[in-house]
Amino acid sequence: MEFSANIARLQPSATIAVSSLAKKLRREGRDIIDLSAGEPDFDTPGFISEAAIGGIRAGRTRYTPVPGMPELREAVAAFLSRTFGIEADPEGVVTSNGAKQSLFNAIFCLAGPDDEVMVATPYWTSYPEIVKLARSEPVFVKGSEDMDFRLTPSDLESARTERTRALILCSPSNPTGTVYSLDELRAVSEWCRDNDVTLVSDEIYRAIYFGDEGGRAPGILDLPEASRGSWVLIDGASKAFAMTGWRLGFSYTSPEVAKKLSALQSQMTSGASTPSQVAAASAFGDGDEADAAVGEMVTAFRRRRDLVVRLMGELLPETSLVEPRGAFYVFFRVDCFEGGPSGSSEFCSWLLDETGVATVPGVAFGDDRYARMSFATSDEILEDGIRRIASAVHAGGAVSAG
Ligand SMILES: Cc1ncc(COP(=O)(O)O)c(C=O)c1O
Repeated sequence: MEFSANIARLQPSATIAVSSLAKKLRREGRDIIDLSAGEPDFDTPGFISEAAIGGIRAGRTRYTPVPGMPELREAVAAFLSRTFGIEADPEGVVTSNGAKQSLFNAIFCLAGPDDEVMVATPYWTSYPEIVKLARSEPVFVKGSEDMDFRLTPSDLESARTERTRALILCSPSNPTGTVYSLDELRAVSEWCRDNDVTLVSDEIYRAIYFGDEGGRAPGILDLPEASRGSWVLIDGASKAFAMTGWRLGFSYTSPEVAKKLSALQSQMTSGASTPSQVAAASAFGDGDEADAAVGEMVTAFRRRRDLVVRLMGELLPETSLVEPRGAFYVFFRVDCFEGGPSGSSEFCSWLLDETGVATVPGVAFGDDRYARMSFATSDEILEDGIRRIASAVHAGGAVSAG
């Protein structure tokens, strides 16, 4: 069967592929340690689930307006206002079936055939595919490794062409955990403003931050209006509130752009699932309870980050990594084991086969020298996983320590 040009270059999600393989091997009885997943291991906080159950019982099960129920758009605007100390406008909020859909809405509306979209690299694996679905060209822009890959205006300048429409930036980053400082973000945003490039700022991990205790990563709405050109903020409930399966994301931008994003969504999926919207209205609207629940999860992620960085240093001293300052991933070099597999895919397949530890090859994020390990799992599992990796790479076999 011949498929359309729309999907001619489409690659299925590499992260979902590894996770599915790990689950399949586990069902077959293999002892698997899955460090590939991109989701918190916590349950959704009780007050959020209760709100949804109450909503279902009260008959809140019908279609909603496409950009979301008014109470949810208001709760999201209030959440942004609280977070950034601004007056966010509910008309700028479009809720969706996950941040992934919000990204799709934004890129599909901003870029089309013959356009280019710059993608900060290493990137979340879906960005280039979404750009290609819009029949645009992803242009990969990699910052210096010394800066943990964060981009500067000169990196952007060297990649810009007449056709550049947008830049997708992710801070805190999946897969590296790097976090832009406010000054770094300002420099990037002002460059975008000056070059008529829309900044699509994916801040879905903003709350999972290991800087100041109780703090959060800087975001685009921290910048003065004068430092911003055109921009779309992407966020959602999945990561901070442990709500991956509810499928609830949002974008925030000018009301004018929001109308276009909503029009696109109206012809694709309509509004997000109504019970999920009720749940999210409580997650974003219930300030104190939400802060307490998120704070508890971030404390656990911080402890696990410290554990993983310490164990990797002790047990795998030959590898270098980007020290995560947010999100819940460690991006570590796998090209440092002499005689080992030549690329990250081979390394990760070998590792899964040899040790039962599932990680995601860096090639799926635009850097074949690395692999990504998620630390969204228990301390015991993390310790077991890292010990297994260390004993396998040091035992000889397919890989010997360099
Ligand atoms: C950087 C980034 N953006 C967006 C998403 C999508 O989130 P959602 O589950 O809300 O679609 C993910 C999920 O892994 C992600 O890592």
